Amino acid sequence: MSPLPVARIVCVPGLVGSLPHALPWHVSCPVQCVCQIKPWFSPDSVYQEAPTVDCNNLLLTKLPLPIPLNTHTLRLQSNLMSELDTAVLHGLPNLTDLDLSQNRFSRVRTIIQSSSLPSLLSLHLEENHLSHLPDASFSSLPALQELFLSHNNLHSVAPGAFTGLDSLLRLHINNNRLTTIDPQWFMALPRLEVLMLGGNPVEALPERGFLALKSLQSLVLGGMGLRGLAEKALEGLEGLESLSFYDNLLTKVPTQALRRVPGLKFLDLNKNRIKLIETGDFRDMVHLKELGLNNMDKLVSIEKAALENLPELTKLEITNNPLLSYIHPLAFVQLRRLESLMLNSNSLSALHQNIMLSLPSLQEVSLHSNPLHCDCLFQWAAEEASHPHIDRDIQTDIQSPRMVRFIQPQATLCSEPPELRARRVREVSTREMSASCLPMIPTNSLPSYVGVREGGELVLHCRALADPQPELYWVTPAGLRLGPAPSHASKGLLVHSPCNSLTASEGFNHTSATSVSSSHSQNDTPCHPSKHYRLLPEGTLEINMVTPSEAGLYTCIAENALGADTRSVTVGVHGREKKRKRGVAANFKGYPLLRADTGLEVREVGEHFAILSWHSRRNLPSTRLSWQAIYSNAHTPTYTTRILAGTQNFNLTHLQAETFYQVCLHLGMNEATKHASRRTRESRKPQCVSFRTKDAPEPQPSRQLSPELTSTAVTLLLLALILLLLAGQGWETEPGEEEGKHSSTFLQEIKNQKAPVISQKPEGCNKHQPKQMVNCY
Ligand SMILES: *[C@@H]1O[C@H](CO)[C@@H](O)[C@H](O)[C@H]1NC(C)=O
Ligand SMILES: *[C@@H]1O[C@H](CO)[C@@H](O)[C@H](O)[C@H]1NC(C)=O
Repeated sequence: MSPLPVARIVCVPGLVGSLPHALPWHVSCPVQCVCQIKPWFSPDSVYQEAPTVDCNNLLLTKLPLPIPLNTHTLRLQSNLMSELDTAVLHGLPNLTDLDLSQNRFSRVRTIIQSSSLPSLLSLHLEENHLSHLPDASFSSLPALQELFLSHNNLHSVAPGAFTGLDSLLRLHINNNRLTTIDPQWFMALPRLEVLMLGGNPVEALPERGFLALKSLQSLVLGGMGLRGLAEKALEGLEGLESLSFYDNLLTKVPTQALRRVPGLKFLDLNKNRIKLIETGDFRDMVHLKELGLNNMDKLVSIEKAALENLPELTKLEITNNPLLSYIHPLAFVQLRRLESLMLNSNSLSALHQNIMLSLPSLQEVSLHSNPLHCDCLFQWAAEEASHPHIDRDIQTDIQSPRMVRFIQPQATLCSEPPELRARRVREVSTREMSASCLPMIPTNSLPSYVGVREGGELVLHCRALADPQPELYWVTPAGLRLGPAPSHASKGLLVHSPCNSLTASEGFNHTSATSVSSSHSQNDTPCHPSKHYRLLPEGTLEINMVTPSEAGLYTCIAENALGADTRSVTVGVHGREKKRKRGVAANFKGYPLLRADTGLEVREVGEHFAILSWHSRRNLPSTRLSWQAIYSNAHTPTYTTRILAGTQNFNLTHLQAETFYQVCLHLGMNEATKHASRRTRESRKPQCVSFRTKDAPEPQPSRQLSPELTSTAVTLLLLALILLLLAGQGWETEPGEEEGKHSSTFLQEIKNQKAPVISQKPEGCNKHQPKQMVNCY
């Protein structure tokens, strides 16, 4: 989308290739100047052969003489002129184009004065020293169509400065020192089509400021320091087709203001501070053809239905956004004509197949320079390469293979998994890509530390891609689990207090709900009814009016049936006064320290399973559960599993019937607690309970030979092996660097009623991806 779309509209039609060259013009030409007949296009694109006097770059301080009478174009660029002999210009009846750019003019009066130049269409005054435009500055130029005033020092422009410019089509006043926009300037410019206002330090546009510009087609507001846009800022721009907000400080898409310019075709929002493209941000812009969302340092996510019903959109550019790691699988809705999708140079790990399926006219996509994960989310790319889709055109009944072209396929490389690293995405076959996708929270989406001022607002964005779609939830420093939000709710789930949040959150409607809420009423866990957390459907956690007690470790968990990924962020709350760092400390002082007694108990025992529950009033992302069968005479292996933060119950499955077991809960340590007191460390001692599994139903004649039992035994043996191996390698790695990534669900947590992963066939298994280790055997 760069250069700015203006060029597309206003620039000369495609004659450039066949332009006639300059022809000789036999006149007495001023010394050092060059006089030729040159091709020339009027601002409204009419071609002429123009007698041209070219005196550029000659260190001139005054007009060179003699200037031929029928001069059409006079070029005096890059000289040292600060005054002009207007009488000479007055004697040039056909003077149409006057270029005085890069000189030393400081006052317009010295140029135009009272002499009328009735045929002048184009006046170049850019890069001079103009600082003020008085009323009626250009009234002696009744035919003027273009006026270039950019790169001067203009800081004041009188309300009537442009009076008399009834024919003006283009006004370039960009890169000056204007701090406000005066709607009165534009009253005199009823025919204006192009307005370049960028590069002036204007922080806010007035409401209805452009109301008079009924003919305006292109408006460039780049580089102005705009932080937001009033709802009516663009009102009245009925003919506007191209709009640029390049390089401003917008933090949101100015959706409301954009609704006032329904005819818009080209929109450039590049280089702003937008963090999220939110649901409905670009809904129903029915004429939009091209949209640019490039070079945004803060952009992290394109949300569900962010672009919806844009029937004319053909080109979408979302490139060079270093934090952009998530595009919702349903981000693009009803983009029937999108042909070109540019997504290169972001932090995307995948492009969901649904995105491809939702774009029936897509012809090319650019994904290079992204950390692409070649796993199940990318299978469409491999599949497509091997058998292109056949689209049947119902109208003509012609079958045409449709294959989306990759731009720079040689640079579109897998960066994960390791065995596919540096392979071209298009050359990896479907078979090589893992069939399952564990949830993955992109590294870029959450920083490891966020500082916030006391009383301020904290917003944490967590997103994850996986197939099947993962569920996201958060665990607060106090160990409270927030979410998951109902995925269809358009507005966030408002949770008024941590206490309520527990009862409100799903996932606790099974066995654990009672135990957790009762634990909170028994022990006086901090509970601030005045605070509220807000969890948005896509995984953003908002906390208003942050207090020091809310400092600490927040963990986001993305989970699907295959496994989970977690990412933690430490939040520091800076006091209003100088008491820095106090926030983090307060967290440890203010909260009850871990005690050995977290109430680990056995809730239910079956033949082959047992349900354990406990409560913890801390976010402990690296909690583990271990268990062991106890026989009087045999040494048995100990199994261990990690427990996701916020989980306070667990269904141990694959147990043997009629057997005693001992189960221990090892409360985790995290970065923050490491620095805490000795008492905390002591409290790491595991807590254990014992139980006996139920008797198997009688009679069981040939029990030893039962195939079911045999397979269980084999499974257990394998499990034991894996776990022993793992125990040797990595379970003890402390979080910090390694925290999170794991698939903990080879034994099912209660709320997942689906088949445990252990029973999955190993084929889709990707041995090299550490997250999946547990699944691979
Ligand atoms: C100005 O242009 C007109 C029309 O092209 C032409 O007839 C006339 O001779 C020109 N005037 C001079 C002084 O060259
Ligand atoms: C625990 O797991 C067992 C075995 O998979 C299952 O039969 C039982 O229903 C599960 N219990 C709960 C509460 O999920």
